Amino acid sequence: MSLSLNEQARKILTDNDKGGYTVPTARLYPFQWNWDSVFTGLGFATYDVNRGWEEIETLFSAQWDDGFVPHIVFHKDDPSYYPGASLWSAGNGTLKTSGITQPPVAATVIRRLMETYKSDDSDARAKALMSKVAAWHRWFREVRDPSGEGLVMTVHPWETGRDNNAEWTAPMGNVEVNPSVKLERRDVSMVDASERPHDREYLIYMSLVAEGRALNWDHKAIAEKSSYRVADVGMTMMLLRSERDLLAMAEYFGDEALAAEVSARIKIAEKGVNALWDDELQAYCSKDLLTGKSSGMVTSASMLAPYAGVGSKEQTAALMQHFDRIANKIKYTMPSLDPDHSEYDHKRYWLGPVWLVVNYMVGTGLLEIGEKERGERVHKDTGDLVRDHGFYEAFSCATGQGTGGNHFTWTAAIWLAWAGKELV
Ligand code: GLC
Repeated sequence: MSLSLNEQARKILTDNDKGGYTVPTARLYPFQWNWDSVFTGLGFATYDVNRGWEEIETLFSAQWDDGFVPHIVFHKDDPSYYPGASLWSAGNGTLKTSGITQPPVAATVIRRLMETYKSDDSDARAKALMSKVAAWHRWFREVRDPSGEGLVMTVHPWETGRDNNAEWTAPMGNVEVNPSVKLERRDVSMVDASERPHDREYLIYMSLVAEGRALNWDHKAIAEKSSYRVADVGMTMMLLRSERDLLAMAEYFGDEALAAEVSARIKIAEKGVNALWDDELQAYCSKDLLTGKSSGMVTSASMLAPYAGVGSKEQTAALMQHFDRIANKIKYTMPSLDPDHSEYDHKRYWLGPVWLVVNYMVGTGLLEIGEKERGERVHKDTGDLVRDHGFYEAFSCATGQGTGGNHFTWTAAIWLAWAGKELV
């Protein structure tokens, strides 16, 4: 008897459940990843709200004293992943972790669990997590917002979650390869190499890991010295959205001090985000903070402005023009890179493929600002990818073919929480 898509999705979550946390997919990613887990919490909540909370609580058990939340938590050793815990040599004293962070989507999902999936203890759990998330957001502002404008500076392409996007090519060109780096990639023996980043990129990724390690993961020192410092448009938008959701929670729990602190930051970020507006291109783009140059390209992260609640009427209209131009070129929205860009590749990781978590945020934002037709297109395309091609890590925007790993946790989670549901 064949399983329904909902049953398959739940089975994926169960199979990838390691007890309190899930892995994105077996072997290729055998640990807990930050934003994967947060979205996975949302997927679990559709049928087991307790397990949903637990996923996020486990992630925050890896938080460091300074508020930082790592991108990987190495709960158990596993030799199948490179770079593993020993190459990072980082942690919070209790758990081994990586030394870089990932997109801050937690506040948004915690609020959603609290409001949509109410249970006896949901308020208490949300409140306990709220202060942890607040500390993380403070860390972003204190350590990763050098100009005080409300932007998010990244010191490694992996922090953005959009690992090999073309936005990072120019800034990575200014990083010197550390001669001690020896690549021991395992990923290319598990999935098709044409769907993964190139070795030349991995040499830089690992050189940046070596830089952080040499500074003992002192985040303030890294933010001042890193040879790679890029304001990521995606994280800037996601953090602003998360700040709004954190504010709603602070108000709900009557925490006036926190509400005032977060409101002040929101005001700054709402204005500051304009520093990422590329006038020539008429889109929000990431920016190299060392050269001051805009990436000059439209990516799926540019389309997160509605989700963040920013953009004047003119800016939104310009973004919608890009949306239509891009949507007319491919079969499935929202490709991770503009198909008109020279580095575009419909099946190589973040150079074209569609990622369901980004679609979820892009589609949600569009629907929230009343862009019904475009929002519905994103929602439908997202569902069709799963209906026609299964639960892959990502999908070719041109053909829909699944790329990267299969039996993928966050794809299943987004199916359960959004793509497989009717819009209301
Ligand atoms: C890749 C993705 C990243 C994700 C991780 C685990 O590195 O680029 O966004 O968090 O895999 O799924």
